[in-house]
Formats: sequence, structure tokens, C-alpha cells
Amino acid sequence: MSDPQTYPPSDEFVARAQVKGMAAYRELYDRAKQDPQNFWGDLARKSLSWFEPFDKTLEWNPPTAKWFVNGKTNACFNCVDRHLAGSRRTKPAILWEGEPGDARVITYEELHRLVARFANILKQLGYKTGDRAILYMPMVPELPVAMLACARLGIIHSVVFAGFSAEALKARIQDLAAELVITADGGWRRGKEVRLKTAVDEALEDCPGVRNVIVHRRTASDIPMKNGRDRWWHELDQQLAATAGESANNCDAAALDSDHPLYVLYTSGTTGKPKGILHTTAGYLLQASASMTWVFDLREDDIYWCTADIGWVTGHSYIVYGPLAAGATAVMYEGAPDYPAFDRFWQIVEKLKVSIFYTSPTAIRALIRQGEKWPDAHNLSSLRLLGSVGEPINPAAWEWYHRVIGKARCPIVDTWWQTETGAIMISPMPGAMPLKPGSASLPLPGVIPDVVDTRGEPVRNNREGYLIIREPWPSMVRTIWGDPKRFEEQYWSRVPGAYFTGDAARRDEDGYFWVLGRVDDVMNVSGHRLSTMEIESALVHHHAVAEAAVVGKPHEITGQAVCAFVTLKKGNWDHTALGQELRQWVAHEIGPFARPEDIRFTDALPKTRSGKIMRRLLREIVTSNAVTGDVTTLEDLTVVTALSSHHEED
Ligand code: WTA
Repeated sequence: MSDPQTYPPSDEFVARAQVKGMAAYRELYDRAKQDPQNFWGDLARKSLSWFEPFDKTLEWNPPTAKWFVNGKTNACFNCVDRHLAGSRRTKPAILWEGEPGDARVITYEELHRLVARFANILKQLGYKTGDRAILYMPMVPELPVAMLACARLGIIHSVVFAGFSAEALKARIQDLAAELVITADGGWRRGKEVRLKTAVDEALEDCPGVRNVIVHRRTASDIPMKNGRDRWWHELDQQLAATAGESANNCDAAALDSDHPLYVLYTSGTTGKPKGILHTTAGYLLQASASMTWVFDLREDDIYWCTADIGWVTGHSYIVYGPLAAGATAVMYEGAPDYPAFDRFWQIVEKLKVSIFYTSPTAIRALIRQGEKWPDAHNLSSLRLLGSVGEPINPAAWEWYHRVIGKARCPIVDTWWQTETGAIMISPMPGAMPLKPGSASLPLPGVIPDVVDTRGEPVRNNREGYLIIREPWPSMVRTIWGDPKRFEEQYWSRVPGAYFTGDAARRDEDGYFWVLGRVDDVMNVSGHRLSTMEIESALVHHHAVAEAAVVGKPHEITGQAVCAFVTLKKGNWDHTALGQELRQWVAHEIGPFARPEDIRFTDALPKTRSGKIMRRLLREIVTSNAVTGDVTTLEDLTVVTALSSHHEED
């Protein structure tokens, strides 16, 4: 493919940016690289509030890291209490939009009141530091309130995405040996109620360790409450008022060790069993909040919106902990992007005057498919910065996002990171570096990534290899809950002394990183290494194509052959002719060896609930025409059934 166009930051953007120009970036980056201990130590002293100072920045005995040793702090205190002293007291912390059209504005002062009251409720029920709570909630303010109340007391929370089934919920409750579940009667999604309490009841049939279920009333639907176990949040709150009076609004934040567990978040691994990724207090919070400045160039008056669900790491770090630690105003939206119509995002951007908008490539591509009339119907002039996360963004989607949403004015930060990294690792600093569509660009300060071969040796520029991170960083995963052996094997033994990301990447002559996708998505066709992403990107570049997913299919002669699943934009297409055209198109864009042997047109692609294409399922379909294994994260099971039974090949 020809060299992509690059986009330097505009003079106007640089003028107000907190990190201005490449020289400033390099200075910051080099300082962190040369003396990481002092870099992180100074930053931690400056940007977090401490009950007791730490006496050592890092103790590193791979794979065990202890950051900010002997320091005492509290994540909730840093996200809430310390903002109450100045003008942020009355600043909105959360601007919440419900799917049905209801809305709430929660100031830092109000957030403090809600969190302190709920923490007092947890205390009254007998919960204490080190206990574990599962949170299975819709996207309502009570979810961050519950997370922060747990953090305030040192209770380890684990948010389970509300789209997970009772089975998946049960597995997580059991793995964590949780004593408490916080949930709601239900939540709203595309106008329908997602019944959460029903799933909790089902899951708890096999979880005798759970003493209480606290239920927030959201949908007011009729649900059974089990005597002695289940309690309504609002009733507990009334009781608290009756017994505690005014003191209900105050609850001391516990002074916790820097590495006190903050939360466990389950994520899918290479095996069927999800991994409980453990993050701890100070290091996690430090890097989540520092990236708010480095990546989002956060200013005091920004209205910042990350469209993720709090059930995933992006919501943890970039709806709750990062923005609140940084004193931002964060938008939180309950429902689906296409409800009641395809302009819901743009309607909210216009209404709340959102200035920073952070979403996923999947969402962008879904909206591209609906056409420009939806964003064009709204005033998007409040936007000044756009972000992308979760998967590689193909240049065609990047260009659309830039032109149609950002009106060619707003830089796009393509942020690479993982549940395990806790915070953004590779991303442009928008006032510093030129953007290349499709590249997450350069590492943030203190992050030392490399691209290596199977022996751990760095590969040459523009060669594909494994993406690793060479030095520990404060927000790194500390362990896999209950499975330290798997933790060490998975992350710290593939390349000795380095963290193995599981992603493939290449680095170009400017040092920019191009993340190509998971290593198990790399194909080998006639001895050529091919990235599924590269072919997908080419396909999506074609005017007829909405989305594409490419997998390797076993092939007698070439080892693997390229198989592409393609969804088309609206229109009447001749599949046979278009199939030929797309093969030619890919040959033209990348090279004849990359030409898909097999093109299958489909109405939709199987996705996880966080919006990632489940290539593993597609691989199974092309290999055996059947689907086995863990499908609990599937957005729409019917898609899989349709794909396995409907095979269009010419
Ligand atoms: C992928 C989400 C390319 C990558 C924050 C990684 C990306 C996995 C990007 C982690 C990006 C995330 N460009 N690929 N900007 N961001 N990924 O744990 O394969 O849900 O390993 O964390 O998503 O997904 P996770």
C-alpha cells in the first residue's frame, strides 16, 4: 500500500496543548527512560494525595512488582475528597444520560455524599477491607458510586459486564469467592429491559458464600427478594438516615497500602477460562490519571466522554478512575448507540457540548454504514479531540472519523493498551506528534515497548514481530487472581524479563508502532506472513464494504489461505461479481499473495459484547464448519448459526 498521509497537529491545537511539539515529547520520554524511579516517584508525589509517603518507588523481582513501597493512600479519596477543597466542589463529576431520556448531573460534592453513604451501608452490613464484591449493574451512576465506596473501604470490587449470562456471572463469583453482590433490578438497552436480578438469583443458587445482594431500583420491574439476603439500596439508605442522621454523609477513607488490591477484572484468555486481572491502588491510579493529561490533554473545562461500558477495562480506567482522579467532568451513557436512532451519540455530543470523545473502531464502522446524514444533522463544533481504543483502527475508518466527526479539526488519539496494562501505553500526545492513520504512534513516558522475534531479539524496522514491554510500569497487572503460575507463564516467561502482550506489531522508520492484532491472528500463506488486519483494512477501503473479518483457513498447498467474511453497505450487490472485484482489490492494495481465496458475504459478524470480532469463531467455522468452546461473550449467537449454515462461495 502507498504511504499513508500524515497529520501534524494544527498550530491552534499546539498553542494550548500541555505537551507541545516533538521536542517536548522526547524530553519527557527520555527523562522517564533514563531515570524511571525518579520520574514515577516525582509524578506520584505530585499527582496523588498520600496519607503516608512511600519510601521506595519500586521493588522489582520479576514477575512481582511493588510500587510506592510503604506508602498509604486511597483511590476513592483521590477521585473524590481531594477535589472538594476548591472550585471543583460544585463542578459536575458525572453527566449521566439514561437510555429512555432521563438525565442526572452529579457534582463532586454530591458524588462524595453518595459514596460516603453507600460506604457506611457496606460497613453496617459488616463488610471490611479485603472482602470481595461483585458488581453486576447497568450503566447508572450507582455503579461508579458502588466502585468508589468499595475502594474507600478497601473492599476489592469486580465489575461483571451486565451483558454476561448467569453462568458467566456465577463462574466469576465463585472464582473470586465473593461475599457480596451489588446489582439492580434491570437496565435499559434498545428500549428493552435487561433483567439483572433474575440472572443474579440464578447464579447464586451455587454460591453459598454470598451473604448479601444489594439491589438498586432502576426499571421498577417486579422482582423477587430473598429474605435475609437481598436488600434494596434505597431502603438501606433510609435506615442509615434513621440511625446515623447527619453522620451518614461522612465516612473516613481507609489508609491503604499502595499495592492494596483495588479490583479484579475478568478477561478472556487463550483458554476457555477467563482470567481475573488484578490491579492495585496507587500505581494504577497514577497512570490512569497521568494519561488523562498526556493523551487527552485534559483541561479544566473539558466535557469528556468515553462511550465504553464500565464492565470493561476502558470504562474502569477512562470513565471512572482516570477522569475522576484528574477532576474531570465525565459523561456516562446507559444505552445503545443506535437507540432510538443512529444519531444518539451525536445528539448527546450536541446536548452536553462534549469536547473529548473516545470510542471504538467498531462503533465508528457501524456508524459509517448508516451514512453521514446522522452526524451531519447535529452541531458537533464543541469537539476538539477524538479517541479510538480496543482494536486497530483501519485507515478508512480513521479518515471518516477525522473528516465527518472531527471536521478535519480534531486530532485522533489511537490508544493501544490492554486490560493487563491498566492504562494507555502507546498513543499520540495530540499536541506533540504528527498522526498516521492506523498507527497508535509512540509510547507514553515510562513505557519501553519493543518488537521482537521468537527468540526475543528485536526485529528490523517494518518487520512484524511480537510486541513486548521491557520495563515494569506502575499500572501493570499484579497477578491473575488465584493463579500466580499462569500469570508468570503467560506474561513474563515468553521473553525473559519482559512483558509479553500477545499482540503482533511493527515499528516504522519514525519509531511509530503499528499494532497488527493478536498473534494468533497472524496467517502464513505460501510462507508470507500476513496480518488479518491488513487485509481487512484493504477490504473496508472498498466502497461496497462495511466491515470485514479475515481468518486463516487450512490449505493443502499454501499452508493457509485467506478467508474473508464481509458485510456490505446498503445496496443491491451481485455477490459473484463483487467477490471477484474484492479479490482484485486486495491484490491491488497489498499484493497478489494476499488475495482472499474465499469470500463469504454475511449480514453481520460475530462480536463479543465489547464489540470485538470473534475471529476464533470464524476460524472454527472455516476449519470445521462448527463452533465449540466458550461463547459466553458473544453479542449475538444467531449470527454464528447463520454463518455456519450459509456459505457463499463462487
Ligand atoms: C487490542 C482494551 C490495536 C489489542 C483496552 C490488545 C488494540 C487488546 C488497540 C486488548 C489499538 C486495544 N490498536 N489494537 N489502539 N487497543 N487493542 O484487554 O489486541 O479488552 O491486546 O483492552 O485489544 O483488549 P482489552
